[in-house]
Amino acid sequence: MTKKLSLLIIFGGRSGEHAVSLMSARSVLNAIDPEKYEVHQIGITYDGQWLTGTDVLGRFEKDNQDYLSPALLLNEDSRVFLYSRKGLKIVKEAPIDVVFPVLHGTFGEDGTIQGLFAIQDLAFVGGGVLASAACMDKAFTKTMASAAGLPVLPFQVFERVDLLEDINAIVEASEKISNYPLFVKPANLGSSVGITKVHDRKELRPALLKAAKYDRRILVERGVEAREIEISVLGNQSPCVSVPGEIIPDDEFYSYTDKYYHGEPEACIPAPLSEEETERVKQYAITAFKALDCAGMARIDFFVDKSDGQLYFNEINTIPGFTKISMYPKLWQASGLPYPQLIDSLISLALERKQENDKTVRKFED
Ligand SMILES: Nc1ncnc2c1ncn2[C@@H]1O[C@H](COP(=O)(O)OP(=O)(O)O)[C@@H](O)[C@H]1O
Ligand SMILES: [Mg+2]
Repeated sequence: MTKKLSLLIIFGGRSGEHAVSLMSARSVLNAIDPEKYEVHQIGITYDGQWLTGTDVLGRFEKDNQDYLSPALLLNEDSRVFLYSRKGLKIVKEAPIDVVFPVLHGTFGEDGTIQGLFAIQDLAFVGGGVLASAACMDKAFTKTMASAAGLPVLPFQVFERVDLLEDINAIVEASEKISNYPLFVKPANLGSSVGITKVHDRKELRPALLKAAKYDRRILVERGVEAREIEISVLGNQSPCVSVPGEIIPDDEFYSYTDKYYHGEPEACIPAPLSEEETERVKQYAITAFKALDCAGMARIDFFVDKSDGQLYFNEINTIPGFTKISMYPKLWQASGLPYPQLIDSLISLALERKQENDKTVRKFED
C-alpha cells in the first residue's frame, strides 16, 4: 500500500467571501478520496485566528468554534508540521505534504497567504505570490493581458486621494474613456462588491464614492451589453483549458445579489459560440494564464459585446469558487474531468510546481 499524502485544507478567512469559502471547502472535502489523502483542516476566523481540531469545517459552518485549538505550521528538518496549542502545551498533529487554500478574496487569493506558504517551503495548490497579487487587481491584470495582446475594454485607474480632492476632474477624465454606460469598480475586490453600472453623469459621482469606500484604486471602464463567457484553466507551464461556458445573469449585470442570492445562475455549457470564437477564447485564456504567471488553476472571464460580437478579456480568478454550483468544477466536469480527478490533478500540480521551485539555487555558488 502506498503512503497517503497529507493534505491540509484551509478555509474561511478575513474576507468578504468567508462564507463562500466555507461552501467551496465543503464541496472540496466531499470530493476528496479518503483512500488517497490524510486530510487535515485549518479554519481562519473573520478576525484572523487559525483554528484546528475535529470537524473544523462543520464547526465553522455552525459558527461555533468551541473545542477548536489555535493552529500553527512549523518548518522542522525540511518538513512542515501542523501543531495545535492546548493551553500551554504545543501538540504536534501531523506532517503536511501539500496545502489547498480554499480561500477567496483578501488574505487568501491575493498572494499574502501564498507568501507564507512559500516562506515555509510548503507545496500549495494554485498560483504563487506574483500571480495571486497581480490577478487580484483588476486594473493590473488588464494592463498585463493587454500587453500580451488580448483585447480589453478601454479603462482608466484613479486614486482615492485624487478623487476626494477633486471629484470633478475625475468625472471629466472618466467621460473621456467612453460614452455612457460606464462601469465603476474597486480594483481589488470580487463578487461584484462596490461595482456600479453608470448610465449618466448624475450616477457617476455616487458610483465613484462607493467604489472608493472599498479600495484605494478605482477602475472606470467602458460598459457594454455583455455576454459573459467563462473558461477553466488547469496546469503549470503547459496548461489545459476546459470548454467555455456562458452565464446568463438575472439582473442588469452579474451583481452580488445575482451571484449569491438568486441560487444557481443560468449557464450554458458549452457556451453557444462559433468554433472560431471558442478557439479564440481558449487561446486567449492560455495567453492570459501565462502572461500573469498563473499556476495550477484559474477561471478566466471574458465579455462578448452583444452589439458587434467583439470578444474582450475581463478578469482572472486564481482561486475560483468550488461550490457545487461553481463554474470552475462544472466546466471541467463538462470537459470530461470529474471533481475527484480535478482535485488529484490540482494536488499533483502543486507538488510539481514545488519541485520546479526547488531547482532554484538559493545559495550563491560560483
Ligand atoms: N465593462 C463592463 N461592461 C459590461 N458589464 C460589465 C463590465 N464590467 C463588469 N460588468 C458586469 O459586472 C460583473 C462584475 O464585474 P467583474 O469585473 O467581473 O468583477 P467581479 O470580480 O466582482 O466579478 C460582470 O460579471 C458583468 O456582469
Ligand atoms: Mg467577475
